[in-house]
Amino acid sequence: MEEKKDASRRGFIKTLSTAAAAVAAGTVAMAADKSQSFFYLKRQPFFSANDNINIALIGAGGMGTQDAIVALQVPGVKLVAVCDLYDTRLKDAKARWGADLFTTRSYKEILARKDVDAVIIGTTDHWHQQISIDAMHAGKHVYCEKPMVHSVDEGPAVIKAQKETGKVFMVGSQGVSSLGNEKAKELLASGAIGQLNYAEGFWARRNPIEAWQYPLPADASTQTLDWDTYVSNTKKRPFDEKRFFRWRNYTDYGTGMAGDLFVHLFSSLHFVTGSHGPNKIYASGGLRYWNDGREVPDVLLGTFDYPKVAAHPAFNLSLRCNFVDGTSGTTYLRLVGSEGSMDVTWDDVTLKRNKSFASDDPFYLEQLRKSGNGNAGRKMILPPEQMTYAAEKGYKGGPYDHMVNFFTAIRENKKVVEDAIFGYRAAAPALLCNDSYHQDRAMLWDPEKMQMIKK
Ligand SMILES: NC(=O)c1ccc[n+]([C@@H]2O[C@H](COP(=O)([O-])OP(=O)(O)OC[C@H]3O[C@@H](n4cnc5c(N)ncnc54)[C@H](O)[C@@H]3O)[C@@H](O)[C@H]2O)c1
Repeated sequence: MEEKKDASRRGFIKTLSTAAAAVAAGTVAMAADKSQSFFYLKRQPFFSANDNINIALIGAGGMGTQDAIVALQVPGVKLVAVCDLYDTRLKDAKARWGADLFTTRSYKEILARKDVDAVIIGTTDHWHQQISIDAMHAGKHVYCEKPMVHSVDEGPAVIKAQKETGKVFMVGSQGVSSLGNEKAKELLASGAIGQLNYAEGFWARRNPIEAWQYPLPADASTQTLDWDTYVSNTKKRPFDEKRFFRWRNYTDYGTGMAGDLFVHLFSSLHFVTGSHGPNKIYASGGLRYWNDGREVPDVLLGTFDYPKVAAHPAFNLSLRCNFVDGTSGTTYLRLVGSEGSMDVTWDDVTLKRNKSFASDDPFYLEQLRKSGNGNAGRKMILPPEQMTYAAEKGYKGGPYDHMVNFFTAIRENKKVVEDAIFGYRAAAPALLCNDSYHQDRAMLWDPEKMQMIKK
């Protein structure tokens, strides 16, 4: 095909020979048997720490805390302040990072501090947009958890704030900085799976915690947490601890399975393919088991049409998530092409390629014989069937690489891999998947202009 001249068996084989040469040079480790090959992926050291960067964490729950822990592994990064609406989280932060840590319930107090260079936003989804915009206008660089925004109409304002302020803004789908995603991008471009025509991803979960039925703390009350602020940018309701601690189940605060999980897939898929997104989005699903008052489905299927563009041919994407799944297992991301497929994670890529064009199907062989190909059964030299490229031992992982990417951009005035435009293009199809489910219709989206298409 025209747009991917390299996407051929020959292109990939050339790359493979280069990899073999690299093995000889000792930069990649390889162990091969007759049909399987294994390569180690290495991360070269990024930089030495020059300037110190002071960060603050806004939203110190599970992910925000984890993000801060990872950020602090990057040389020269110091945590100076933490904000959360729930006092226990602030006490936990002091216990973890020291009694001197400044803590507050108000993110505006964090943004007013002169000693804060950058903030990590790990709040519930419904606060991402407002805090991101306020932070950039207060002169802070922002690492905002995914999905970048809570609804599709919120994205342009974040993009505008990033442009106006020139601050570094990074969304937290860590996979896009990982060795696994980088290798997949390289393999796809080299033609390792031929012409892309399909991609898929699925999650299987079944226990209550995985299905968002988190424990409710005994001390939860309007004394220990700031409920009024929590609901101040959405529908006002009386205090409800489930809506605070199990927020993923409610549309005022969370973004359902699509915003929580599918969005990672969009980020990785767009990074690997260079895509800007699908133009048609349709979803189905239902609430099958977790009848605990939640407003979101526990089984969700999403189907997405990607149009042909310069970066890739037209292809289809299928995503599914099942929170009542006893059997089927999880696949992060699979890309399927005319000559093979790739299973992609943050740490490895398993490439499967057509073994050969030979067939032992008697009908096919008979047809060949009739067509005059008398040598149809001749044995062939076969290329390897399966190759795994795995991060070498000690690899710190996508989350660390993602933080390094963020801090390097701040230090060296560079671009980040997942800026507001990228983050919005990943969030939009996920959020539109929810809209499709709730409105029971296909959503049409212009991924280039980042606008809904009105019919
Ligand atoms: N990148 C990933 O792999 C990943 C994984 C899990 C969660 N996340 C994202 O991280 C975010 C947090 O998820 P979580 O699982 O940590 O939830 P969580 O409930 O554990 O933490 C959210 C915290 O935000 C606080 N908060 C809410 N509104 C606030 C406000 N206005 N000001 C200050 N604090 C506020 C809450 O008090 C709570 O402590 C979500 O957006 C989620 O999608 C990302």
